[in-house]
Amino acid sequence: MSQSTKLFEPFKLGQLTLPNRLAMAPLTRNRAVPPSFAPSPLAVDYYGQRASAGLLITEASQVSQQGQGYQDTPGIYSKEQVEGWKKVTDRVHERGGRIFIQLWHVGRISHVALQPNGGAPVAPSAIKAKTKTFVNGTFADVSEPRALELSEIPGIIDDFKRGTANALAAGFDGVEIHGANGYLLDQFAKDGTNKRTDAYGGSIENRAKLMLEVSQAVVAEAGGDRTGIRISPVTPANDVSDSNPQPLFDYIVDHLNALKLTYLHVIEGATGGPRDVAPFDYASLRKRFKQAYMANNGYDFALATKVLDSGAADLIAFGKPFISNPDLVERLKKGAPLNDWDKATFYGGGAKGYTDYPTLKATEAAE
Ligand SMILES: Cc1cc2nc3c(=O)[nH]c(=O)nc-3n(C[C@H](O)[C@H](O)[C@H](O)COP(=O)(O)O)c2cc1C
Repeated sequence: MSQSTKLFEPFKLGQLTLPNRLAMAPLTRNRAVPPSFAPSPLAVDYYGQRASAGLLITEASQVSQQGQGYQDTPGIYSKEQVEGWKKVTDRVHERGGRIFIQLWHVGRISHVALQPNGGAPVAPSAIKAKTKTFVNGTFADVSEPRALELSEIPGIIDDFKRGTANALAAGFDGVEIHGANGYLLDQFAKDGTNKRTDAYGGSIENRAKLMLEVSQAVVAEAGGDRTGIRISPVTPANDVSDSNPQPLFDYIVDHLNALKLTYLHVIEGATGGPRDVAPFDYASLRKRFKQAYMANNGYDFALATKVLDSGAADLIAFGKPFISNPDLVERLKKGAPLNDWDKATFYGGGAKGYTDYPTLKATEAAE
């Protein structure tokens, strides 16, 4: 059976023409190899297998060692990492795909074992998150963070700028700023984690400042056409909260719009959890942002079709379905069954649960 929907219509994103409206959401897989934390050769196969997505967004990639919060996540701050990513982008482009890299600083969601000289992770304020990270092969409480000095903030912005330059050198079609899920930029934006009394704390304008300054620096390096951003207004992920997220994110999105980023990627609800975890008017963001709007969280074919057809979004990002279905686009097009994902192999390991999920063709050939 062939299914007809806007999902498979092309979309112009900046200079790129996406052949369909499906994006692969950023998915951390913890398979980058120490000590370089460059993407492994397996990552080349993994992303290459998924090149039929309208747009691939890589797993979050730290812009500095300080920005790393979990074991074996890839970076985009060293020469080896750029060389490793170049192999990924080459493979994706050979297969006719398009790929953005997600730029990441975890802030307080880290552990001293991962930090430069075993130091404390950095945060807007010295408030420890009630959550765990994965480090030294096991889950461990995150470490007590320290508040960033005002004088350190330009360095963080420079790290994102360098990450962007490196990403372009590695052949990426663009970058996605990770402003979501309780990591550094989200920690600054939300008042549960930001208790600063300087120019980066207090009012909405002050709390939004770091996300917007990073965005401005990235756009200056890559151009708005090659810059997207991901936000999660109401997610409780990584122990983050805000007392009044609607005006905060309305303000942020108005200013992102002025910077002419090419897409706004919004996680609706609790990341990987209920979509209706808290009231929030996403249509208000859609209205404020004049470029492409990408929606994510718990989408399937029916919901994606409904939302695209209603005009509430231009693009839909699928996460877990892309882990277990390298040919997700073809399967959805045909109305074919999807492979289930195996949570046990999400984080860390080798090819199992990473590059060995069968395509429909392979499954049919084996029958
Ligand atoms: C294994 C795994 C890793 C993830 N890694 C990231 C990440 O690196 N960056 C990010 O912004 N979100 C990350 N997420 C969240 C997903 O991008 C997505 O928002 C979530 O899975 C909900 O979408 P879905 O219902 O289509 O899976 C991750 C989720 C999973 C399951």
